[in-house]
Amino acid sequence: MERFIFVLGSNWQLSLAELDNYLKYSKYKGRIIDYSANIAIVEFKDLHQDPHYINKLMEIQFNLGGCQKISKIFDFIDITTIQEAFPIQMYKFKHVERIRKKIIDIIDNIIIGKKGIFPKVYESMFFAVSIYPNLYDDSYYTEVLVKHFLPFLNKEIMEILKQKGAEKALYYQYPEENIKSGNLNPIFPHHLIKYDLLNENRAEIIFGFTEEGVYLARTFTTDDPNFKKEIDEGRPHKEFKSSISPKLTLTLLNFLNIFENRENKKILDPFVGNGTIALFALLQDFQIFGSDNDFMKVNNTIRNIHWLLELLEEEIPPLTHQRIVKQDARSMSNKFEAYFFDGICTEPELGPYYTEKPYFTQARNLIETELTPLYDDFLKEAYKILKPNSRICFISPIISTIDGNDIQVNIEKIATKNNFRIVPMLDLSRINNKSNPKLKFRKQQVRTLIDAKKGQIIKRKIYVLEKK
Ligand SMILES: C[S@@+](CC[C@H](N)C(=O)[O-])C[C@H]1O[C@@H](n2cnc3c(N)ncnc32)[C@H](O)[C@@H]1O
Repeated sequence: MERFIFVLGSNWQLSLAELDNYLKYSKYKGRIIDYSANIAIVEFKDLHQDPHYINKLMEIQFNLGGCQKISKIFDFIDITTIQEAFPIQMYKFKHVERIRKKIIDIIDNIIIGKKGIFPKVYESMFFAVSIYPNLYDDSYYTEVLVKHFLPFLNKEIMEILKQKGAEKALYYQYPEENIKSGNLNPIFPHHLIKYDLLNENRAEIIFGFTEEGVYLARTFTTDDPNFKKEIDEGRPHKEFKSSISPKLTLTLLNFLNIFENRENKKILDPFVGNGTIALFALLQDFQIFGSDNDFMKVNNTIRNIHWLLELLEEEIPPLTHQRIVKQDARSMSNKFEAYFFDGICTEPELGPYYTEKPYFTQARNLIETELTPLYDDFLKEAYKILKPNSRICFISPIISTIDGNDIQVNIEKIATKNNFRIVPMLDLSRINNKSNPKLKFRKQQVRTLIDAKKGQIIKRKIYVLEKK
């Protein structure tokens, strides 16, 4: 059975939840059999039996918001072996040497061959080693893996390639000061593209750690952050401070659980703004509809869509003006037919753009008098225009206050009132939980997840609701 490493996005819990949902409900059935804060190990039911499975991995990569790379696993070394070969303190040098030789033999066995990391020996070969630790703040990573394991791997893999006949074998050199400080990031997706590491004679070789051990893998697909950036930042109309990120957009779209015939599925963003969700939903083949109560935003989104279609050299459909319209979300059913949509994906009004934390009473006032009624009406209207059993994926704000706790809209209450059920984002019955408290999920079901940067005043809380 082939296994794959999925390198997770920076919000690893959300990436893990998205991936598990994808493997459960899309046609590419599979399971996460192990994970860390950086990677998930995936076993597919039958994808690997397809001779063209790499094309399918590319499709999966394109769909997922929280996946940086997908790599095929060639072997696994348990954690005790690694710790014996690379101990924190060296006492028994002979033993260490013997175990290191065992590791070299494992690499030697998988490096070249029809089913190896490189299909054959080339005159000139290049590789980049990426180590993904269990957790970045693990001192074993900074002190041992970066400072000793990485140089060992670089040297030994280079030697093996030369012994096997490569005239020239080079490796990617990380900045010396990062190695010295132990503060090292593995190869970024854009480096994979820049250094042609998907070519046959070049490779990114991943050593992905979990609590169990290290998985040895070669990367086959990567996210293309430049493409997402070009759309997100290159579009004619954009407001950086209030926009959702492309990655989070893709994740929300996947939680709609619509994976087949996306071109026939109608989805709506009723707070469309400058259209981030609409643009990325269009790229994912959905039929997109949008509305906003600000006429300027409606026009911005229409222009952005036309710009994207021109960029993709696709025809501009005559319907855009009928599909992106001015409409208050509190009365959407006046504009859109009942039971019309297959899904709603949106980032509603989150409150003002605070540059400083508000007082608790200020935030509570905003939540009680503006946001709660708005979200309540939005869900009431959404119920009318959604098809039965279809979903809404949306963001709700958590506001940090200067003199009190965080405060948020009680979505659970509003959802129940409006006949929606909260769909848990992650079900631990499908995943083996971890013992490390930083990696362990405390409940059997994760109902919602948060997306926020450190110190952010308004955090985004993600909800997936299903129409009862
Ligand atoms: C947080 S922004 C959405 C940003 C959007 N995701 C983007 O990428 O540009 C919220 C949007 O909701 C709109 N809005 C606020 N209240 C509304 C209402 N009652 N009905 C419809 N739109 C509303 C605002 O005009 C704004 O464009």
